[in-house]
Amino acid sequence: MSNTRIAFIGAGNMAASLIGGLRAKGLEVQQIRASDPGADTRARVSAEHGIETFADNAQAIEGVDVVVLAVKPQAMKAVCESLRPSLKPHQLVVSIAAGITCASMNAWLGAQPIVRCMPNTPALLRKGVSGLYATSEVTAAQRDQAQELLSAVGIALWLEQEQQLDAVTAVSGSGPAYFFLLIESMTAAGVKLGLPRDVAEQLAEQTALGAAQMAVASDVDAAELRRRVTSPGGTTQAAIESFQAGGFEALVEKALGAAAHRSAEMAEQLGK
Ligand SMILES: NC(=O)c1ccc[n+]([C@@H]2O[C@H](COP(=O)([O-])OP(=O)(O)OC[C@H]3O[C@@H](n4cnc5c(N)ncnc54)[C@H](OP(=O)(O)O)[C@@H]3O)[C@@H](O)[C@H]2O)c1
Repeated sequence: MSNTRIAFIGAGNMAASLIGGLRAKGLEVQQIRASDPGADTRARVSAEHGIETFADNAQAIEGVDVVVLAVKPQAMKAVCESLRPSLKPHQLVVSIAAGITCASMNAWLGAQPIVRCMPNTPALLRKGVSGLYATSEVTAAQRDQAQELLSAVGIALWLEQEQQLDAVTAVSGSGPAYFFLLIESMTAAGVKLGLPRDVAEQLAEQTALGAAQMAVASDVDAAELRRRVTSPGGTTQAAIESFQAGGFEALVEKALGAAAHRSAEMAEQLGK
């Protein structure tokens, strides 16, 4: 990325996280620019990161190699159509907008190399994970650029089929909320068992963090880690058996199925 120039269209939360991540990786301020209709948003991002900002999207993409579309899905059609006359064929378009397909973007932008990504909220802390899909027009060098861009806020994993982004949305896109729900439920259960709320909350949060770090650091899978901490006839086994008797695995499958279905449905609606 040492010579790559990047323009962000939309300078909200996600764009600011990516810009912060890129700056931390050593990109120069001159390599990054952003456009946004909000004067306050432009002032904030330029004060925080020292980059040049624009009110005009077309002006922002002049001379850049990568155009990152970081606007809400509802704004994508108008943004793409406004960029179309100014985009050059070699400019890579990277979209982080949930649910907007490459076919929709191609219809709005014209034939352009596109990488579609599904990041998640922990990207705000550079602890995100993203699924990436590239159209056939994307070159190997452009794939590397997209990989480096998304790696600035976490890890980035490539997918073979665009449709798999619905599954990514179900697992990691919406995933942080599932863990928040578990933390919430464990905290409430801890309070019912007699703990002060702040103690129960810290126990649940730190346990989630520690378990995730163990799973990431370990060379065995989560099922094996679970077996290793579940002594026969012990407390963990009593809890796990209660979860399983309540249909925990089937419930998780159903919940993620509902999210993937909704993701496909939203893509259909937003792509019109
Ligand atoms: N936040 C996440 O964790 C997350 C996770 C996965 C995917 N995403 C995707 O990332 C995208 C951005 O999310 P975000 O959370 O960063 O949203 P956000 O904070 O609302 O940022 C979007 C920015 O785009 C600006 N904008 C609106 N219309 C524009 C236009 N025509 N041209 C240029 N900029 C325009 C908005 O300005 P106004 O506020 O004035 O409209 C806002 O500052 C979304 O498509 C979302 O689906 C986000």
